[in-house]
Amino acid sequence: MVKAVSHPFFARIYPRIIAFTEAHGSIEHRQELLAGVHGRVVEIGAGTGANFRHYPPEVTQVVAVEPEPRLRALAEKAATEAPVPVEVAAGRAEKLPLEDDGFDVAVFSLVLCTIADVPGALAEVRRVLKPGGELRFYEHVVSERSGFRRVQKVLALPWRLIGGGCHLTRDTARAIQEAGFTVEDIRRFYFLINGRANPASPSIIGTARPTT
Ligand SMILES: C[S@@+](CC[C@H](N)C(=O)[O-])C[C@H]1O[C@@H](n2cnc3c(N)ncnc32)[C@H](O)[C@@H]1O
Repeated sequence: MVKAVSHPFFARIYPRIIAFTEAHGSIEHRQELLAGVHGRVVEIGAGTGANFRHYPPEVTQVVAVEPEPRLRALAEKAATEAPVPVEVAAGRAEKLPLEDDGFDVAVFSLVLCTIADVPGALAEVRRVLKPGGELRFYEHVVSERSGFRRVQKVLALPWRLIGGGCHLTRDTARAIQEAGFTVEDIRRFYFLINGRANPASPSIIGTARPTT
C-alpha cells in the first residue's frame, strides 16, 4: 500500500507562500519552466495548481497528480480556470496511477525536495514518459557554497517539520542524472526575496531526457 500524504498545516499556509513568492519573481520561474512545453504533460505533486495558468497552448492535456487532499481540492479549482485541459488525479510520485509511455513531458516543480523516495519517483517518470520524452524541473537545492550549505544543514529539521516534509539539502540535479537522465539544460541561481537569500534560495531550472 502506498502511504497517504496529509499535511493540513502546510496545506493551509502554502497558498500564502505561493502568493508571496509570486510577488517576488516565482511567476517568471514557472514561465521559464514551462516555456515550449507541448503535447501531453504529467505534472507530479501539483500542489494548488500554481503552474496551470502558465501552460502554453501547444499543450493538449495536463494530468496533474497530487496526493495531499486539501491541496488537490485547490488544484481542482485551478484546473477549471486553466488555459489548457487539466485533469487532477490523486496519487503519489512513487506509484503513478498512469499508463506506460503516455506522456511527452513530465514536470516537477518544487516537489523533488519533498518526495520521500526520489529514485522511485524518477523511475516512475521514466516509465510514463514516451521514448524521447522530456523532464522539466524547477527545484530548490543544496547550495554549492560550503558556508551556505552549513546553514541549510542546521535548519534542515525544523524546515522539514514546518514545510510539509521539504528537504533543504538535496542535490536534485545529481539525483536526476543518477536516475538515468541526461540533463540537457540547467540554470543555477539564488532566488532572492527583496535582495536577500533564504535557506531555500539556491535553485535550478532545467530539462532532462532519459539517457538512451
Ligand atoms: C512545495 S509543494 C509544491 C507544489 C507545486 N508543485 C508548486 O510548484 O507549487 C510540494 C508538493 O509535493 C507534494 N508531495 C509530497 N509528497 C509527494 C509524493 N510522494 N508524490 C507526489 N507529490 C508529493 C505535496 O503534497 C505538495 O503538493
